[in-house]
Amino acid sequence: MKNTELITYVKSSFETNYKTKPVMVFSPGRINIIGEHTDYNDGFVLPAAIDMGIVTAIQKSNSSFSVITALNKNETHHFSLDKIESIPNGGWRNYVLGVIAEIQNKGRKLDNFNIVFGGNIPGGAGLSSSAALENSVVFGLNELFNLGLSKKDMIFISQKAEHNYVGVKCGIMDQYASMFGQKNTAILLDCQNLNVSIVDIDLGDYEILLINTNVKHILSESAYNNRRSVCEKVASILGINALRDATEKDLFSVKDQISEDDYQKALYVIQENKRVIQTSEAIKNNDIQLLGRLLYESHEGLQHQYKVSCDELDFLVEQTKDIPEILGARMMGGGFGGCTINLIKKDSKKVLDKIINSYQSKFNIQPSVYYVKISDGTKILDYE
Ligand code: GLA
Repeated sequence: MKNTELITYVKSSFETNYKTKPVMVFSPGRINIIGEHTDYNDGFVLPAAIDMGIVTAIQKSNSSFSVITALNKNETHHFSLDKIESIPNGGWRNYVLGVIAEIQNKGRKLDNFNIVFGGNIPGGAGLSSSAALENSVVFGLNELFNLGLSKKDMIFISQKAEHNYVGVKCGIMDQYASMFGQKNTAILLDCQNLNVSIVDIDLGDYEILLINTNVKHILSESAYNNRRSVCEKVASILGINALRDATEKDLFSVKDQISEDDYQKALYVIQENKRVIQTSEAIKNNDIQLLGRLLYESHEGLQHQYKVSCDELDFLVEQTKDIPEILGARMMGGGFGGCTINLIKKDSKKVLDKIINSYQSKFNIQPSVYYVKISDGTKILDYE
């Protein structure tokens, strides 16, 4: 569904149900050019907001409870603001409830409200539909109840919702990119202090293309938290706050105190961090060949050292290596499924047929292909 159709759909569903005009919010998903699993290591990332997202309609209610409706799922949840708890296997509910609870934990007062939301980000694709949902809810509530929260306050609320109510100890990249994204630019974000430098995305004859494996392996959440704790363990052996502050030489000096597996994981983080800086330089210098090579290197590390890839992602990346029109590719996001990000020559859609067909015959799954536009972050939608 196009954004304009989605906005009309969400707004009219709200108005039909509640007979009043809502505050409307759009919050985008994100891509990440490079810098995977570096954010919770206080490192660098290079994400951008995209033109797919979540649209949320929200308004105060006189009722003694609040109501949220997820249009895509055709599900509604009624709850009391006095007692917010995470729901076992609650799916989308926990993202919203988590945001509400974290707003309350910050000492802000909410009265009852109704929310209707819908989205056009494919689920499980690693495009951060969850961060988009969290951001849209906190942004809408901030506007509706004049909570006085800054955008930075809001992204930390979204992140805490995910830690404490969903159980994923995510970094700040997704929430940041979704909130602060800007058209045609990527965000070089230093996750240690949230310093930002904006990188104009002009890839000349090339463009970014996503290919969705259309798989999401279930172990992804526990594996994510496990990777984070490995990194924290190695950082504490090194006597530093986060791997961001380690060099390869530092890591080598504790090699005999950790397993080979943990060594490789920490080494990946240190090397990926360097690749983020190299990539942003390559983009600034229009060195598209180098950009492509760095994407492949990142995937190698994610596959063999950090071990968060899967057969489907590896296959898609491998297939691109024989195609001269594609200069680089890698898995994107947390891993274990979702999309690959590819650097492909403009107007060469035809070369994709081969990848799509061979993927389909190997896995018996039809992959999806998306060309995304780099777009603005979370905003209130004005309408008459
Ligand atoms: C998920 C998390 C992010 C980040 C990526 C991996 O998207 O939400 O914080 O860690 O995985 O780079």
